[in-house]
Amino acid sequence: MRIILLGGPGAGKGTQAQFICDKFNIPQISTGDMLRAQVKFGSELGLEAKKIMDKGGLISDSIIMSMMEVRVVEDDCKNGYLFDGFPRTIPQAKSLKQAGILIDAVIEIAVDDNEIIKRMAGRRVHLSSGRTYHTEYNPPKIDGKDDETGEDLIIRDDDKPATVKERLNIYHSQTEPLIKFYNNYASSGEKTSPKYIKINGIGSVDSIKDSIFSNLT
Ligand code: AP5
Repeated sequence: MRIILLGGPGAGKGTQAQFICDKFNIPQISTGDMLRAQVKFGSELGLEAKKIMDKGGLISDSIIMSMMEVRVVEDDCKNGYLFDGFPRTIPQAKSLKQAGILIDAVIEIAVDDNEIIKRMAGRRVHLSSGRTYHTEYNPPKIDGKDDETGEDLIIRDDDKPATVKERLNIYHSQTEPLIKFYNNYASSGEKTSPKYIKINGIGSVDSIKDSIFSNLT
């Protein structure tokens, strides 16, 4: 199964990605997690990326595409993959198609901006695994600790209210056009066209998971 998860910042892509990847035994490929790993590692790319991410901007399409073309040919992608936060611009989506990287389903998780702002304020993250919690809606078993490793959870630097506002602006101007792009592709009748699935992202984590699974199978 080859999937794209589409949605605004904080729509719940990372949360739902974990269930889908477990079910289909595919890797979660999150460009955000890959960039945060580079920041943690202190590489040149990481240092440059951090400046942009902290302001809520996007990393250049060419850097993202070269990262992804290398990633999808790794061994763990033989059964498929789930793209979380990629593609994020029309040029990225076109490059993906041109590179012959196939997609079976595009899942849009739709959540309004006010709900997103509430979600970001309470988000806590386990950096090395990408596991995501919310202080109120999806709390860890022990406050501030990851359920599986017991390690500390962190607040992401780009979850500050001013940065969240900018990320939402960027989402509406640069990423939202992908909804039309993939709807058109899905109905084009092309041999490679993916299925387009729109999910209402408001509701419990479990009800959204059930809705995704019933649409995927
Ligand atoms: P990235 O890490 O991809 O961030 P994002 O797309 O903004 O998405 P998030 O990770 O913030 O949210 P999510 O949808 O995964 O939500 P989550 O499940 O955590 O990108 C970060 C930055 O990297 C970008 O700003 C950019 O600079 C750069 N970048 C990344 N990819 C790029 C690309 N392709 N091109 C260029 N630049 C790129 O959920 C959010 C919270 O809500 C959590 O606390 C969760 O517990 C809670 N929650 C989840 N579901 C529910 C529910 N149903 N009800 C209540 N709460 C819920």
